[in-house]
Amino acid sequence: MPDMPQPCDVVVLLSGTGGNLQAMIDSFQDSASPARIRAVISNRADAFGLERAARAGIDTRVLDHTGYEGREAFDAALIEAIDSFQPSLVVLAGFMRILTPGFVRHYHGRLLNIHPSLLPLYKGLHTHQRALDAGDAEHGCSVHFVTEELDGGPLVVQAVVSVELHDTPATLAQRVHAQEHLIYPLAIRWFAEGRLTLDEHGASLDGQGLGPSGHLIRH
Ligand code: GRF
Repeated sequence: MPDMPQPCDVVVLLSGTGGNLQAMIDSFQDSASPARIRAVISNRADAFGLERAARAGIDTRVLDHTGYEGREAFDAALIEAIDSFQPSLVVLAGFMRILTPGFVRHYHGRLLNIHPSLLPLYKGLHTHQRALDAGDAEHGCSVHFVTEELDGGPLVVQAVVSVELHDTPATLAQRVHAQEHLIYPLAIRWFAEGRLTLDEHGASLDGQGLGPSGHLIRH
């Protein structure tokens, strides 16, 4: 039998419930899958995502940021913990920490984030409320490569949802989360298959530039 190609090892960083982590676990559970979640690291010991990881037999680590003197020291420890797993890709899945430029540079081209808005709209927090307040007809989520600009790196894929008349932040968030759980595993799969890259011109899929909005999925 021919040797199976080595899967792409992924380390996931999170602080919370880990809905996106669960979508990745479900999507990459097959042993023939191109990606393998090697470890989950949280800055919060009570993050439910750690339990999801443990249930799936994935290594976990907790690095409590309050135990470090400042961002540089925490990020240095975080790099050490991540690199002990030798991942090809690091993904942020609700990791509620601002990362230092040194951290971001260390993982240049192999660090992805998901954000609950159609970037460049609504960087930062409370994105569903802000989309409703603005009267937007459409909202959604974005996967992007991480650069030093907060929520600002080259876009990989966006999913668009329609805003309904009676939406509240909670109902809108629910539909956006469902899309997150599709597009994050998709982007990771592209990366793991060697199809998604970042160079000085931006993000490319199969050698084609993804342009300013990334790959757009509209239902
Ligand atoms: C998601 O809304 C994601 O877009 C944002 O943080 C949230 C994480 O949710 N970056 P979960 O912990 O994956 O359920």
